[in-house]
Amino acid sequence: MTPTALITGASAGIGRATALELARLGYRVVVSARRDERLAELVAEIEAGAGAGGGAALALPADASDTAALDRVLADATDWCGGPPDVVVANAGHGLAGGVLSSDRARWEHMIQLNFLATTHLMRVAAQAMAGRDERPGVGRGDVVVLGSCVGVNVSPFSGMYGATKFAVGAAAEALRREVGGHGVRVTNVRPGIVISEFQDVAGYDAENFGKAIEKFGQPLQPDDVARTIGFVVSQPPHVHVNELTIRPVGQDYP
Ligand SMILES: NC(=O)c1ccc[n+]([C@@H]2O[C@H](COP(=O)([O-])OP(=O)(O)OC[C@H]3O[C@@H](n4cnc5c(N)ncnc54)[C@H](OP(=O)(O)O)[C@@H]3O)[C@@H](O)[C@H]2O)c1
Repeated sequence: MTPTALITGASAGIGRATALELARLGYRVVVSARRDERLAELVAEIEAGAGAGGGAALALPADASDTAALDRVLADATDWCGGPPDVVVANAGHGLAGGVLSSDRARWEHMIQLNFLATTHLMRVAAQAMAGRDERPGVGRGDVVVLGSCVGVNVSPFSGMYGATKFAVGAAAEALRREVGGHGVRVTNVRPGIVISEFQDVAGYDAENFGKAIEKFGQPLQPDDVARTIGFVVSQPPHVHVNELTIRPVGQDYP
């Protein structure tokens, strides 16, 4: 049976690259984000075989900060996949420039809602659905992958509140791993360092200062680098769990 995956935040960056990578690995993929025209382009690209495995794809536009919308996405994805998706990548999220004192206070609630509460909700309902189904040979019961961050381990004063959301979601991922591991469900926290994507603009980074700050790190990561890592994690045999993984540009010494 063809494996299936649901990826949130798939209209750009890491999520888009992950959808293409999983399609290349032979998954049927469900992609979600708010920008439906971007999703339609991605579906067309996958269907045209741009992710060398070719395969099928479905777009389910939704706001990932809305837990009811996430429930509908998971239900529709489950219908299309013929059961809970084998892999759910809880990737939708955004950054926020500045520390606890200097970040825009007006953006805290939404970021916490999206990066922590709604992401954890998706992880929970996906893991519940996976734990309740029969184990499939070679696939196990399923993978929940969340995008944490290296600032979710070593907090940076340049993105303090954002880092706090990644600490929180990392803690929830580890707690959930302990709850559902015994049922054959893997919960994995993938923690990237600096990846060049729309993330920097959305977070409100000053392009010149950011460019100077990361110059010394050498070549930064691209979304594809993280996507290959996620592909590696979910491709392990069912008895193997790479449950936390940090991926940085080689020269990124901090954070
Ligand atoms: N880039 C980095 O340096 C870096 C490092 C560590 C961790 N991460 C994490 O990796 C994940 C992906 O980041 P990225 O670099 O790929 O960022 P990105 O290029 O800005 O992509 C973010 C994706 O999330 C979606 N998204 C944002 N808000 C959403 C919402 N309310 N509802 C639905 N979808 C939403 C966006 O789609 P729409 O706008 O179309 O909704 C987009 O597809 C995030 O969780 C981020 O925190 C990134």
